[in-house]
Amino acid sequence: MDNLRVLILGAGKSTRMKSKYAKVLHRVGGGTLIEHVLRTARSLSTDIWLVVGHTADKVKALVSEVKFVDQKEQLGTGHAVMAARDQFGGYTGDLLVLPGDVPLISAETLEAFIRFHRGGRYDASVLTADADDPFGYGRIIRRNNDEVDSIVEHRDATPEILRIPEINSGIYVFNAPALFASLTRLHNNNAQREYYLTDVIGILGSQRQKVGAFKVESAEEILGINTRQELAAMDRVMRRRKCEALMAEGVTIVDPESTFIDADVQVGADTVFYPSVQIYGETVIGDDVTIHSFSRVSNSKIGARSTVLEGSIIVDSAIGEDVSVGPYAHLRMGTSVSDKARVGNFVEIKKSTLGSGTKSMHLAYLGDATIGKNVNIGAGVITCNYDGVNKHPTVVEDGAFVGTDSQLIAPVRVGKDAYVAAGSSVTDDVPAESLAIARGRQVNKEGWVKSRKKK
Ligand code: UD1
Ligand code: CA
Repeated sequence: MDNLRVLILGAGKSTRMKSKYAKVLHRVGGGTLIEHVLRTARSLSTDIWLVVGHTADKVKALVSEVKFVDQKEQLGTGHAVMAARDQFGGYTGDLLVLPGDVPLISAETLEAFIRFHRGGRYDASVLTADADDPFGYGRIIRRNNDEVDSIVEHRDATPEILRIPEINSGIYVFNAPALFASLTRLHNNNAQREYYLTDVIGILGSQRQKVGAFKVESAEEILGINTRQELAAMDRVMRRRKCEALMAEGVTIVDPESTFIDADVQVGADTVFYPSVQIYGETVIGDDVTIHSFSRVSNSKIGARSTVLEGSIIVDSAIGEDVSVGPYAHLRMGTSVSDKARVGNFVEIKKSTLGSGTKSMHLAYLGDATIGKNVNIGAGVITCNYDGVNKHPTVVEDGAFVGTDSQLIAPVRVGKDAYVAAGSSVTDDVPAESLAIARGRQVNKEGWVKSRKKK
């Protein structure tokens, strides 16, 4: 929107969270609180300012493309805006103030709110809602239908005021000059000994300046996070929303309550998630995929019609189409598994590629390996990729067969269509189409048991 500056308040310590870190660094719905609010803010304006204070370095390291305001001591929400005033110069446009702890607020609601503010020619507007449980929030004292007289904090409220269901979201639009003029009149003569931004509303109201209230339908959208309990409740709301959105797009989620899917995850139609599945980060899952219980997929890609069986972990990896993974497989660090490949029970694959049609069905470790098409990796095969100092590559070419319980001591190459006999310790390259046997020869001593008994 034109001529709109956004100021996000994120300096507060998390006293009620009992945390060492700034409150806005706590995670919910797959991101930190500040990342959720920033994403919404960015869809409205490019002129974004963030007030930082408590563990400011950590907040600054996390976010980019915003201008920072330092609030050295955290003396309240009004004090946070005062800290910004000195850096704002002569800004005379509209200022949208967002608390950093209200992650569900949508861009559509904020746009409607700003249109309300501009259409009504208000000096300040506040976003409100009627809450079933208004505990802890500031209460809106109305002057008439559309205008606000003042806001009273829960801790400063009389029993009568506590009965008012309409709460302050902590989201405002101000005419900047009107805001900065009244900030100079704030005091901290209240229950929390803080400079309240909410008092600006009362100051403007007492000067007969126009303060509007824009009430949203559902208080859920303006829920603020002050405690770990509220964080968990918010996470539940965000998870439910994501599951509902995916189900509306044709994804089956057997038990949405126990399914954790981050906001940015993309899933194709007719994919099925069984209970207790976790899908995180920038994961993209195709159509007709099935993910069974207790599996975790993070920042990975899974192609159409693939199946992930129970208890598998897939991190930073790419899985092709018609692939089967698990149960209890672990794929990580840039592993790539091509179409129609199969990775079975207790197989760990790190930084390796498997060609199409290749199988590794049982108990293997494949690290730093390039494995071709239609290769058979027997049970218990290990790539010995680490010599204690350096990592070394293993190459297994198309069509090769690596027998059960073999070790491939890297760097080493098994040629095209070659065989490695079961139980081999392969230290030298195996030429194409040959058989390598690298194990002690068996000796049978007949009658040995009887002769021992005689002794
Ligand atoms: C505030 C409002 C309350 C409203 C509620 C909505 C005030 C006085 N009260 O209360 O009316 O119902 O939000 O959620 O404004 N912050 C700073 N610097 C500070 C203090 C806070 O940057 O010195 C930041 C916090 O990091 C947070 C935001 O401001 O992101 C809100 O602060 P918080 O302490 O959570 O205010 P509430 O008590 O929830
Ligand atoms: Ca709050």
